[in-house]
Amino acid sequence: MALRKILTQGDPALEKQCRPVEKFDRKLHWLLDDLKETLTTAGGVGLAAPQIGILRRVVVVEDENEELLELVNPVIVGQEGKQEGWEGCLSVPNQYGWVDRPSLVTVRAQDRDGNFFEVTGEETVARCFCHELEHLDGHLFVEHAGKLYSPDEIDAMEEEKEKKEEFSRRRKKKR
Ligand code: NI
Repeated sequence: MALRKILTQGDPALEKQCRPVEKFDRKLHWLLDDLKETLTTAGGVGLAAPQIGILRRVVVVEDENEELLELVNPVIVGQEGKQEGWEGCLSVPNQYGWVDRPSLVTVRAQDRDGNFFEVTGEETVARCFCHELEHLDGHLFVEHAGKLYSPDEIDAMEEEKEKKEEFSRRRKKKR
């Protein structure tokens, strides 16, 4: 296994359409292992092959049990509901945007040996499925976000919101 460099926004590899995997060979297994090691080291929840410069339809996503799912040639086959929330990307360091996603997403994919399976994710996992699969078509989450914020700016906004809520709670008590 080897740690790979994560490419950042502006790199042409992140804007390319990725090709399907046809051979479920040792090379694919190395790619999956490298993706997992790179993701774990970076402390993220999902990573797509183009983010390390490999233009193949392969992603890894952390599931709700903190296990890494390997998704080869993944396709979204079902989605329900809506969630709103902050979203970030290892290829867009230190910048987060508010992005709407479905709250439940089902993906059909192949495992490292080519066997087909389906997996359903909720909330963060559903968000991650959408985000990672878009990487395979050369898209970044920033296309769905309005303004991007740094973690410090988000903390400041959350603090401001809490202060306002506290103020309105106190005002209600007095009446
Ligand atoms: Ni990303």
